[in-house]
Amino acid sequence: NWTTGNVIEEQVAAIRALVGDRRAICGLSGGVDSAVAAALVQKAIGSQLTCVYVDHGLMRKGETEQVEKDFVAATGVQLKVVDAEERFLTALKGVTDPEEKRKIIGREFIRVFEQAQAEIVADEGPAVEFLVQGTLYPDVVESGGGTGTANIKSHHNVGGLPEDLEFKLIEPLRQLFKDEVRMVGQELGLPEEIVHRQPFPGPGLGIRIVGEVTKERLDLLREADAIAREELTAAGLDRDIWQCPVVLLADVRSVGVQGDGRTYGHPVVLRPVSSEDAMTADWSRLPYDVLAKISTRITNEVRDVNRVVLDVTSKPPGTIEWE
Ligand code: XMP
Repeated sequence: NWTTGNVIEEQVAAIRALVGDRRAICGLSGGVDSAVAAALVQKAIGSQLTCVYVDHGLMRKGETEQVEKDFVAATGVQLKVVDAEERFLTALKGVTDPEEKRKIIGREFIRVFEQAQAEIVADEGPAVEFLVQGTLYPDVVESGGGTGTANIKSHHNVGGLPEDLEFKLIEPLRQLFKDEVRMVGQELGLPEEIVHRQPFPGPGLGIRIVGEVTKERLDLLREADAIAREELTAAGLDRDIWQCPVVLLADVRSVGVQGDGRTYGHPVVLRPVSSEDAMTADWSRLPYDVLAKISTRITNEVRDVNRVVLDVTSKPPGTIEWE
């Protein structure tokens, strides 16, 4: 009979037997799946696991701290944080095309991750032979099943490492659905904000700024997004909506009036959606008073934002994200 306790017990035993006295690494994204996978492996092999978190500077307010502090406090995991904000911002300079942004962010991410990985592999200690991944059952079905090894090219070698590092995969969530993963996470004592986190794209706020991504614009968007999330949570709506992207139209300006002055600022878009699987979505009918509160707070508290608009497009034809 299926209980989260059984799943954890079985996986812990299997992972211990598999890894022995060797080591494993795991990339953390801030998302539910990688967090639960890491926590499970940590429970099994403790300090033989090292997690890597690449801070690309495109996360929302408080999210990096959530991984660095709360996740580490809850699990005791050994974590290597790489602050790569400047590197990502430099690579994104002048770029406005959404696909190009995605490509650059993806490429830089792999490079930074590989570098961190190479440093871990090169340090003293037992061989690093395993890579932990938060693959879920629906991912397994979608890709036609089968286990494999990850062949990760290492372009940025640290003295004398092999060109290609081959890792064996540990995928402790391969038999689970998302709601089961959340239950396992809860049982493992992970913070509520991580276990019930809504989907958030890998490229982060980089694809929620229509226009060039700069530190200044990211800071504006982070403030606006934090206000929207705070008010949605306060209204008890987190479990009713699938996600609510907040988008900064950085290349658009409109005239406004504030106090006795004319303003010429940027709009932000609220994109609350309901969905089952993100393949299709409908715009969420949020209560007017919640929308009003968010709008008032954002225009009062976020410098340079003088207008809040609501996206009332379903998917299709609109996508959930704006880029
Ligand atoms: P769209 O915008 O295509 O989004 O309707 C569907 C879901 O996928 C997320 N999304 C991404 N996730 N990398 C990701 O990891 C991406 O490049 C990306 N683009 C969209 C989006 O947040 C939504 O949940």
